[in-house]
Amino acid sequence: MDTVTITTQPFSDQRPGTSGLRKKVKAFQVPHYLENFVQAIFDTQTDLRGGTVALGGDGRFYNREAIQIILRMAAANGVKRVLLGQGGLLSTPAASCLIRNYKTNGGIILSASHNPGGPDEDFGIKFNTPNGGPAPESVTEAIFERTKSITEYAIIESQAVDLDQPGELTLGDTRIQIIDSVKDYADMMMQLFDFERIHQLFNSGVFSMRFDAMHAVTGPYAKYILEGLLGAQPGTVINGEPKVDFGGGHPDPNLAHAHELVSLTSGPNAVDFGAASDGDGDRNMILGRNFFVTPSDSLAVMAANAHLIKGYATGISGVARSMPTSQAADRVAERLGLTCYETPTGWKFFGNLLDAGKISLCGEESFGTGSNHIREKDGLWAVLFWLNLLAVKQQSVEMIVKAHWKSFGRNYYTRYDYEAIDKPAAEGLMVHLRSKLGSLPGQTLDNYQIAYADDFAYADPVDGNRTEHQGIRIGFEDGSRIVFRLSGTGTEGATLRLYLEAFEPDPSKQTQSTETVMERLVNIALALAEIGQRTGRTEPTVIT
Ligand code: G1P
Ligand code: ZN
Repeated sequence: MDTVTITTQPFSDQRPGTSGLRKKVKAFQVPHYLENFVQAIFDTQTDLRGGTVALGGDGRFYNREAIQIILRMAAANGVKRVLLGQGGLLSTPAASCLIRNYKTNGGIILSASHNPGGPDEDFGIKFNTPNGGPAPESVTEAIFERTKSITEYAIIESQAVDLDQPGELTLGDTRIQIIDSVKDYADMMMQLFDFERIHQLFNSGVFSMRFDAMHAVTGPYAKYILEGLLGAQPGTVINGEPKVDFGGGHPDPNLAHAHELVSLTSGPNAVDFGAASDGDGDRNMILGRNFFVTPSDSLAVMAANAHLIKGYATGISGVARSMPTSQAADRVAERLGLTCYETPTGWKFFGNLLDAGKISLCGEESFGTGSNHIREKDGLWAVLFWLNLLAVKQQSVEMIVKAHWKSFGRNYYTRYDYEAIDKPAAEGLMVHLRSKLGSLPGQTLDNYQIAYADDFAYADPVDGNRTEHQGIRIGFEDGSRIVFRLSGTGTEGATLRLYLEAFEPDPSKQTQSTETVMERLVNIALALAEIGQRTGRTEPTVIT
C-alpha cells in the first residue's frame, strides 16, 4: 500500500473550543479540512508514531467517512495499533475507559456531543491524552499552532475498511483491532456498582424506569447493561438505535429536548425513574416521578451519599464543580471536611485534580457528572449511581433530594441560553459587563446586596497554569449568584449563557417554583447586561 503525501494549505479556524474542534459537517467535508487537523494531531502527539490510539465516535453523520480517513492517515503516520469501536462507535466515556485500560498513547473521538447531527448539522473531533481525558489547553494550543503552518499530510491509498466485523486486520503496517464497543465499559461499571442490588430493585415489581438514549450512542450500552445485565424490562431503553441524525432530534438530555422521557415521568402513570444521555454518552439527566433533579443537585446528592456506593465506600478525597455549577456541592464538601474546587467550564479542567487524587467526584451544571473512574463525564455511570442509591435507600428520587435540601439547604438553579446571537454584540455585552465590575460590589439591586463581582480566573492547583476570562460572576450577600459567559462549543454566531442561583436554607420555603424564586434575579441580570438592547432577544432560546 502506498503512502502519499498531499500538499495542503492551512485553515485559520481550527482552534479547538471547550471540547475539541466542532464545526458544521459541511466545513469538515471541505477537502483537506479534517485531514489537516488529524495531521496536526500526529505531528504534535509524537508518541502516536509507533504507539496505540483508541478511535471511535458517536455515530453521527460523517462518522464512518471520517474514521476511514483517520485509519488511512494513522497507517501513513506510523501508528502501530488502532483500537477501533465496532461500527465506528464509542461513547466518549467508553473511549476514555479504553485509553486507560489498554494504556494507549491517546484517543481520537469523533463527536459534537449534544449538537444535532445530519448533513447540515454538526460534527467534531477531539484528542484525548493517555490519562483518558480531554487534551489540556497546552496540547490543544500546540495542535492549533500546527494547523496554522501545515503544508502537507500523509495518507495511504487503500480500500475502505469493514468497520463492522469484529477482529483484527492490517492496513499497511498498522494493526487495527475492531473491538466490542460496550464490554470494557460494562465491566468497569460492574466494579463500581452493586449490580445484584440493582437487579433486585428491577425485579421487585414495584419499580419502573425508562432510559432515553435519544437515538444516540448510549443505546447499545444501556440495552446491554440495564436490560441485559441488570434485568430491567425490555423496553426500558427507548430510542435505543443510534441514528446518524439522532432521529432528527437534538440529543441533549434536558427538559427542553428530552420531551418523550419527560412525559413518561409525568402524570398519574409516571415511571419511578427516568434518565437520558446525550449524543456521545457523557451527559445525563435524572428524573424522578414528576420530579426533576438539577445536575448541580445531583452532584451534591452523590457526594453526600458516596459512602453508600460500592466503588466509593472507602470515602471520597474531594469534589470539584465548574464555576457556573451551583454551590450545592460546596455545602456537602464543607460538612464532610473536604475541599470543593471551582474550575472553569469544560471537563478538561478536572483532569489534573483527578490525576493528583485531589478529587473523586466532579460535575457541571450542563448535565455532566463523573468520577475518578475515567477522565470524562459519564452519562450511564451517573444513572447507575442513582439506581444504586435508590436500591440502597429504598426511597423515591424526590424523597432523597428533598431530604438533602432539608439537611444542606436548597440551591435553586436555572440557566438561560441565547443561541446564535450576533458575535460582536455578544462580545460587546461581555466588555460592557467587565467595565462595570469595579463599581458593583456594595451596590444593592432590588434588595439584593452585591458581595463581589469578578471575571473568573483559575490557577490550576496542580500545575499552576492560569486560565483567564472564564465568565463574569456576581455574588450576593445571601449566597445567590448571577453568572454570564459565552459558550465555547457553539458553531453559529455566539451563545450567551446566563446562570442563576438562589440559596434557600429554610425547609418551609424549599418547594416554591424555580421560576418564582428567580424572577427578581432574572430582571437584575437582564438589566445589568442590557441583554434585550444588545442582542435583540426578548426571550432566551432555551431555559434549563
Ligand atoms: C458546554 C457546557 C460545558 C460542557 C461543554 C461540553 O460548553 O456548558 O459545561 O463542558 O458544553 O459538553 P459551552 O458551550 O458552555 O462552552
Ligand atoms: Zn456529550
